[in-house]
Amino acid sequence: MYRSHNCGALRAADINKTVTLSGWVQKSRDKGFIIWTDLRDRYGVTQLIFDTERTEAKVIELAKTLGREFVIQVTGKVIERESKNTKIPTGEIEVLVVQLEVLNEAKLPPFTIEDETDGGEDIRMKYRYLDIRRNPVKESLIFRSKVANEVRNYLADQEFIEVETPYLIKSTPEGARDFVVPSRMNEGEFYALPQSPQTFKQLLMVGGMDKYFQIVKCFRDEDLRADRQPEFTQIDCEMAFVEQEDILNIFEGLTKHLLKKLHNFEIENFPRMTFDHAMKTYGNDKPDIRFGMEFGELNTVAKHKDFKVFNSAELVVGIAVPNGASYTRKEIDKLIDWVKRPQVGALGMVYVKCNEDGTFKSSVDKFYDQEDLAKWAETTGAKAGDLICVLSGPTNKVRAQLSALRMELAERLGLRKPNEFAPLWVIDFPLLELDEETGHYHAMHHPFTSPKPGQMELLDTDPGAVKANAYDLVLNGNEIGGGSIRIHDKETQATMFKHLGFTPEEAEAQFGFLMDAFQYGAPPHGGLAFGLDRLVAILGGQETIRDFIAFPKNNSGRDVMIDAPAALDNKQLGELSIKLDIQ
Ligand code: AMO
Repeated sequence: MYRSHNCGALRAADINKTVTLSGWVQKSRDKGFIIWTDLRDRYGVTQLIFDTERTEAKVIELAKTLGREFVIQVTGKVIERESKNTKIPTGEIEVLVVQLEVLNEAKLPPFTIEDETDGGEDIRMKYRYLDIRRNPVKESLIFRSKVANEVRNYLADQEFIEVETPYLIKSTPEGARDFVVPSRMNEGEFYALPQSPQTFKQLLMVGGMDKYFQIVKCFRDEDLRADRQPEFTQIDCEMAFVEQEDILNIFEGLTKHLLKKLHNFEIENFPRMTFDHAMKTYGNDKPDIRFGMEFGELNTVAKHKDFKVFNSAELVVGIAVPNGASYTRKEIDKLIDWVKRPQVGALGMVYVKCNEDGTFKSSVDKFYDQEDLAKWAETTGAKAGDLICVLSGPTNKVRAQLSALRMELAERLGLRKPNEFAPLWVIDFPLLELDEETGHYHAMHHPFTSPKPGQMELLDTDPGAVKANAYDLVLNGNEIGGGSIRIHDKETQATMFKHLGFTPEEAEAQFGFLMDAFQYGAPPHGGLAFGLDRLVAILGGQETIRDFIAFPKNNSGRDVMIDAPAALDNKQLGELSIKLDIQ
């Protein structure tokens, strides 16, 4: 038996018990006649004491050889500590060691395995198995497991069935590139790894599995960011005989269940906001509504003077920064530099200080009088003491820029509190999105999403105006889930493919199986998928999903621990009929 207790279990009530513990040496303090060693495992840390007066000499000798991260087993007696440590649950006791066995020695780890480590990101990723021994990473993985369990509990209670779908499939368009896998047995042919199980879950609905879910890996070859990984996990769900309202209710219920179970956080019905309103008010389809700073559109009150920049702009729009009037000239200049960075891309920023005495001081006093500025303050909701920041330009661009500024300022002002949760549904998304580079429309969600009733005809005349039965769940400024009511008849699906630029032959070759299935009694259906990594990160008070993934990829999509991806040798390439012609 390696252990009678774990390293987080022993308390004052266990004093005088003989126990056996196994774990890793966190650190040892050798005071000559006494050695104290902290023994760590997943559950906690227990202090061991080797005492020359009470422990055999040969055990003391061995104890002196223990290095950091040695794996050891000890047997000893639980005794009361002289100086108690109130910071850890085992802090009242220590184990007076009688027997010690070194189960495995360890090289000195390349970084300290403490909550605050001296190891940088790269080295921690290379030795991720050591990083996982650290509390913050360990706790994140345990938290993730709890969230997944709660998801399963809730969905099982609602009679959802977990069904596995294949990974070696054909392209499913979710807007990214596919990762592909060559088939040895089918020369020159490739599988695609699923960007999501979208088509399979729809086929399960045709198969009558009217409430499906799966906690499933998805693969997308796209540029990485803090909230994106090339392989990530979805809580993928689909239901038959449902309308949008049914789906929103079930998954609002799931989100409430998670907030309650994990944070004891209760919340009334989630607000619902149309896509158009979100874009107009927050410049963003995933607004963080934990704080205000809503957009005030200023076209009517800013385009009537000789200020050419505004007069020629499609949109003039501002936000009120709470207590920003006290910013110095230097601070405001820095803010202007911030919006001009290429990542944000504004050409400049106009500002108005709303003085405490009710007067205004702006960077455009030459053009606008106090009466004009008072209207700007009214439109942006600025109060005395606030700073109004105004950007102008093409509508979509300027909204994105002001949204970036709003989020940055909120971050700086501490308004994005990690322990506050503000979920909302964003609904009525456009069906199609114009790709400005190619001039073509593509599906904003995916090609299986149904248009709102009666809007099909608009596809021919004003495709950009067609709204979809599509919705996103947003939490604290992050899109944590998205879904739609699907098309469930062949004809509509074929029309949709036509509008997306597929020839009938292409649509048949790629999605004939789905359109065929629709001819065999496909029920009305819809669903959604949560991004589990994002959900867990945000519930855990963070936005970087990497910290909640056991073995994540770095920003270049590499696993630096196992050194993947890697080249294949010629034999393997030959078996796969792949000839590389790299110059
Ligand atoms: P969608 O593409 O919106 O929908 O994806 C659903 C959710 O998955 C998460 N997500 C990601 N998380 C981490 N890294 C990524 N690269 C990544 N990409 C997406 C997001 C997102 O909200 N089949 C549809 C769902 C449906 O219609 O039912 C789908 O995949 O949190």
